[in-house]
Amino acid sequence: MGEPQPLLDPLTPAAIFLVATIDDGGEAVVRDLLADLPGLRRSVGFRVPGSGLACIASIGSTAWDRLFAGPKPAELHEFPGYQGEKHQAPVTPGDLLFHLRAQNQDACFELAMKIGERLAGAATIVDETQGFRYFEQRDLLGFVDGTENPEGQLAVSAALVGDEDAEFAGGSYVVVQKYLHDMDSWKALSTDEQERVIGRTKVDDFELSDADKPLDSHVAVNDQDTLGQIVRANMPFGSVAAGEFGTYYIAYAATPGVPEQMLVRMFLGSDEAPYDRILDFSTAVTGTSFFAPAASFFDELPDAPAPAAVEERESSATNGVALSGSGSLSIGTLKRS
Ligand code: HEM
Repeated sequence: MGEPQPLLDPLTPAAIFLVATIDDGGEAVVRDLLADLPGLRRSVGFRVPGSGLACIASIGSTAWDRLFAGPKPAELHEFPGYQGEKHQAPVTPGDLLFHLRAQNQDACFELAMKIGERLAGAATIVDETQGFRYFEQRDLLGFVDGTENPEGQLAVSAALVGDEDAEFAGGSYVVVQKYLHDMDSWKALSTDEQERVIGRTKVDDFELSDADKPLDSHVAVNDQDTLGQIVRANMPFGSVAAGEFGTYYIAYAATPGVPEQMLVRMFLGSDEAPYDRILDFSTAVTGTSFFAPAASFFDELPDAPAPAAVEERESSATNGVALSGSGSLSIGTLKRS
């Protein structure tokens, strides 16, 4: 298995998430940036000793075909989107994801600026989210977030592709969603009621007993013992001026099927619960899927697609054959309950 990108590192106090779409004709510049990324990270990180600056770069399904010839990660596809009876998870554009994480915001920001400079004219940054640690790794709902992440070997098998797709072993499937919290209605709940929404105690972060934990609580809906494990690196973000208080959800998984099954249960429901009650207080405003190849991928990128392949893809796109990706918000493809 190739050395993974540093996606299994512990949560950091600072993070920046950049999602970009590749402009027409921007592929060569993007390829150059991806090849230079490890060096850029070293240049910035070495100047901020102790920052532990890390950058995990991921590529979306349509972008993969535009950037690389040859094999593709077996399960890479666009984010499906979910249309439940009451809540929906939209699909939003994104060809590239840069997940920057460090002990200090300056290190993240410096590298984000460098990435922005290199992408200028070739790609458009469609979302930038600056995440921060909030007290004891709490989300803005006030609950500790990340406790039940797998550790050690379990984290490796939860997050990393193995021999089942040997060419891409050491890589990881990535799902991101931005959620905005309705803080007024959340704060109107008693602490006991909030604990029943999440399924854990608020102050000391213990899981509620089966007898006390409602079937529609967030941890009951996402029970990893039955659904499989994922590695989450969620970060709070917000703007007081804009009245935005949110959680940036990011999951790394050996197969996208596990986080997608969780989303099905959260939005479309199951025999046990109609939907995840956290959604009554949290609205998904973005949703995009990517693949984070192993670190060595960037040392020697696959060849670019031959011009004939590009032309053929472009002509099938103009003939109306589905070519999603850097397009607009496409909630028309949402999975329905
Ligand atoms: C509004 C956005 C979200 C917030 C604020 C949030 C918050 C939390 C909190 C506080 C916990 C309990 C502590 C922990 O184990 O981390 C938790 C657990 C968990 N969450 Fe989320 N989460 C969000 C979205 C999601 C989404 C979209 C998924 C999957 C699609 C997800 C999957 C999980 C899983 C797998 C667990 C652990 C369940 C277990 O095995 O105990 N979360 N989340």
